[in-house]
Amino acid sequence: MAADHRMEKIVSLCKRRGFIFPGSEIYGGLAGTFDYGPLGVALKKNIENAWWRMFVDARDDMYGLDSAILMHPRVWEASGHVGGFHDPLVSDEKTGKRYRADHLLEEAGIDPSGMSLAQMGEALQSGGVKSPEGNALSAPQQFNMMFKTSVGSVEGGDMAVYLRPETAQGMFVNFKNLVDTYHPKLPFGMAQIGRAFRNEIAPRDFIFRVRELEIMEFEYFIREGQWEEQFDYWRKQMQAWFASLGFAPDDIREVEIPDGERAHYSKRTIDFHYRYPHKFDELGGLAYRTDFDLKNHIAQSGTDLAYLDPVTNEKVVPHVLEPTFGLGRHLLAVLVAAYTEDELGGELRTLLKFPSHLAPVKAAVFPLLKNKPELVAKAREVYLELKKEIPQVVWDDNGNIGKRYRRQDEIGTPLCITIDFDTLGEKPELKDSVTVRDRDTGAQKRFSVSDAIARVREGI
Ligand code: GAP
Repeated sequence: MAADHRMEKIVSLCKRRGFIFPGSEIYGGLAGTFDYGPLGVALKKNIENAWWRMFVDARDDMYGLDSAILMHPRVWEASGHVGGFHDPLVSDEKTGKRYRADHLLEEAGIDPSGMSLAQMGEALQSGGVKSPEGNALSAPQQFNMMFKTSVGSVEGGDMAVYLRPETAQGMFVNFKNLVDTYHPKLPFGMAQIGRAFRNEIAPRDFIFRVRELEIMEFEYFIREGQWEEQFDYWRKQMQAWFASLGFAPDDIREVEIPDGERAHYSKRTIDFHYRYPHKFDELGGLAYRTDFDLKNHIAQSGTDLAYLDPVTNEKVVPHVLEPTFGLGRHLLAVLVAAYTEDELGGELRTLLKFPSHLAPVKAAVFPLLKNKPELVAKAREVYLELKKEIPQVVWDDNGNIGKRYRRQDEIGTPLCITIDFDTLGEKPELKDSVTVRDRDTGAQKRFSVSDAIARVREGI
């Protein structure tokens, strides 16, 4: 299947089945925004919960946080975002439409890595690169990606603030609060999952590049001398995380970001790229942020953020490792990894082979026939028993059984449980047993109701 068609098919399935809708659709949409429907929310929560379980709940050295999206504007001066959170912008000289100079160069087969703004301008000219409409382009200029707004209710007294472009700064400005209340021992981390906003010049590739995104990340505070050993440790933890999502090793690439191309705060960065249909592209990253952020916040705020070692009484400004993970990009990678077309019983079908712990619906329960009250009553009984223990199960009695299977396959439900006449005792030896059908193989087996519930539970 052609890669570009795969993305189109995923976009269409997401809309058709209620995973993801274009933002503000009835008004013609708003570029770079998407709304998550019932199945999209459930899938997103399952990814978030798995992440939180592995990196926060399962550890003794990680502290959760949920900080405000609006922060004092000086935070973004200290972090370097006011001065340096830029993308190279060019405009179509006729239509005024804006594009990313590096994207246009890539599309023209010219590698923009490491190029200064002026070099990009020269490369666009010498390569004869035009806008997608075929018009001349302006010279590239830096475009700050932060969204600006204002707070205050007094006329003329508003204060300009930014919607946060990353969640990391919430951790740095709360570093002292955490140390004062929890007295953690170095090394330790602060983690959060939350929204961030970036005025992307060219949002594209479905939910891959959006203007309102969610990031799962943590700042891990260490002593400077530990950074190489800790970098290696977190690199392996990140590899383990990607494996736990069912990503094939061949679909993940690690990319060392060279000098001159890293974010302004980083001394070393490895990006993890996933094999998306459009190309291998960034899913997450691991950065060594040194003491850049804490030092700058000390200088700008005048607050002492040094850590007092309780044993040696020595004061140090901790250094920081930052594993970061784009939540929407994870969701897209999970969809791409799961999207499958095959043939079952001579019929073509589409299915999402989600790992069970990520599947938005864990099981579906059906009465074989809708118009037999005794079947429906027994099926409701099984359904309610299962739902009490595992809430992410659904009831379906629409259409024939084949259609119900196709529907559940398409949303990635791992197991379907059918209540038939044998459940009611038509064959006495099968009384109270149900059929359990496996999504990936289509194989059906009979189990007692309690064993069927145990099978659903096993997958979670
Ligand atoms: N605190 C570090 C930080 O924010 P980043 O690489 O700029 O690092 C973190 O962003 C992650 O957020 C990226 O690895 C990527 O997965 C995701 N991301 C970045 N920009 C995005 C966008 N416009 N749309 C969707 N996800 C994005």
